[in-house]
Amino acid sequence: MKSPFSLSIFALAMTGFGAIAVAQNAPPPASETPAPAVEAAPPAEAAPPAEAAPPVDPLVEKGQYLARAGNCISCHTRHNGEPFAGGLAFKTPYTFLGEIHSTNITPDPETGIGTWTEADFIKAMQTGVAPGGEHLFPAFPYTAFTLVSQDDLKAIYAYLKTLAPVKYTPPSNGIAFAMRWPMMFWNALFLKEGRYQPDTSKPDEWNRGAYLVEGLGHCGACHTPRNLLLAEKSSDKLTGGTQPDLVEEGKIRTWAAANLTQATTGLGAWNVDQIAKYLKTGHSQKAGIFGPMNEVVINSLQHLTTEDAKAMATYIKSLPAAGEGVKYPLSDAQKTAGAALYKTHCDECHLDSGRGGFMKAPPLAGSAIVQAPSSASLINVIIYGAITGKGGPTPFGAWEDMKALGAKLSDEEVATIATFVRNNWDNKGTPVTAGDVAKQR
Ligand code: HEC
Ligand code: HEC
Ligand code: HEC
Repeated sequence: MKSPFSLSIFALAMTGFGAIAVAQNAPPPASETPAPAVEAAPPAEAAPPAEAAPPVDPLVEKGQYLARAGNCISCHTRHNGEPFAGGLAFKTPYTFLGEIHSTNITPDPETGIGTWTEADFIKAMQTGVAPGGEHLFPAFPYTAFTLVSQDDLKAIYAYLKTLAPVKYTPPSNGIAFAMRWPMMFWNALFLKEGRYQPDTSKPDEWNRGAYLVEGLGHCGACHTPRNLLLAEKSSDKLTGGTQPDLVEEGKIRTWAAANLTQATTGLGAWNVDQIAKYLKTGHSQKAGIFGPMNEVVINSLQHLTTEDAKAMATYIKSLPAAGEGVKYPLSDAQKTAGAALYKTHCDECHLDSGRGGFMKAPPLAGSAIVQAPSSASLINVIIYGAITGKGGPTPFGAWEDMKALGAKLSDEEVATIATFVRNNWDNKGTPVTAGDVAKQR
């Protein structure tokens, strides 16, 4: 069948994303903007001229801050590669489509964006169209970046211009990503082009938070479920999505990103301070970071000001409960088997009450990870442990990593424990099968 419609749907299905983060902890930018001149410049008489910090352009400094808020570095740095030089591979759930690679956004004129004007850059960020009319794929989160203001994009552009140009051409993309025109149709369906419009009935802090979460922070890229054409489902915003992660060459592990709304299966049990602390430090009384959230905090959120972290938390706390889970009634046999395994393997730290404790472990009762729509992260934590990435802050009271239990437990046992913790206490979650566990091994 050769109807243009079926062709475009096929091509649309080829578009997509799902970040396979090869670079778990991308290195910090090579050309760190020096500290503000006021702070760095020592008193004139004491300062050997050679050490005097060059003056910092406030626009560049602002741009660096915003580039961190947008976490450009995590996606635009390949494993052991130069920061911002691109080459990180992304795959979609449709693996036959092959890979797409992030581009070199250093100012190299041949392999980077050195010849781009400020207007070119702003257009690419806001509309997903590169100079020459080339449509970009939404593995690049321009569907979120479209909300970012002209002024903020000018600052990011000014910052990127100060990076050392790196001559590096990312590997070519899979054949499916050679065809870019179908993105026109995809954009017509799913791109809501336009800047963030403040809600004047809400305080400035809330609006700042919404701007960061929905725009530069692109939290929905992982925390919002996607439809078959891989667009974020706007009706289920931030209710929990999944994220593929490349563990080693050819091996992908899926993670569940939690429901961030006020559902009891989401962040209903977290207060604003706990959310803000988690974003800024990677730890709160409720949870610590692991999996793909590691690089979000380590490369991006830890660098935000306390005020911005608080603003994001204020906005997140205001998200009405959505995507509430459904209780799965455990049979007596499931309860007995689950409780016995829990007692042997989990109780010591997470306690019978499921509440965990200070310096011990986070709560499982009410946990958004335990109750996430997809059980992938819960299974991963049991099999591989909960490992906090290096390079993050180590706040007081942060837990040790939880150790891997995968070698001790069969798929069947992991499934029994997971089903149990998803439905014991007041928790709600779909049951987990041995097959679900096998997929995560
Ligand atoms: C979730 C991953 C991700 C994040 C975060 C991300 N990018 Fe990208 N970006 C990509 C991918 C993948 C491409 C390639 C898209 C394509 O080829 O269609 C890309 C392409 C681009 C392009 C087009 C370059 C070209 O040569 O065509 C620009 C400009 C860009 N990104 C800038 C940024 C900036 C600035 C940030 C941070 C504010 C950022 N990106 C954050 C994944 C990301
Ligand atoms: C690259 C994908 C990705 C992006 C982008 C992302 N997250 Fe996450 N997030 C995850 C995953 C996966 C988890 C589960 C692992 C964990 O808890 O560390 C998670 C966990 C969380 C949790 C903890 C839930 C719990 O109960 O432990 C919060 C809160 C959170 N993210 C907030 C955010 C915010 C706010 C943003 C945007 C600034 C964001 N995330 C962006 C993938 C992502
Ligand atoms: C020796 C102590 C210990 C044992 C035993 C243990 N855990 Fe953990 N668990 C932890 C710690 C500590 C963390 C937090 C790690 C971090 O934040 O990096 C954690 C984190 C978790 C999380 C993530 C919670 C969230 O909301 O982010 C889940 C889920 C979890 N454990 C489930 C289990 C299950 C199920 C078992 C039994 C099979 C178990 N744990 C056994 C110490 C333990």
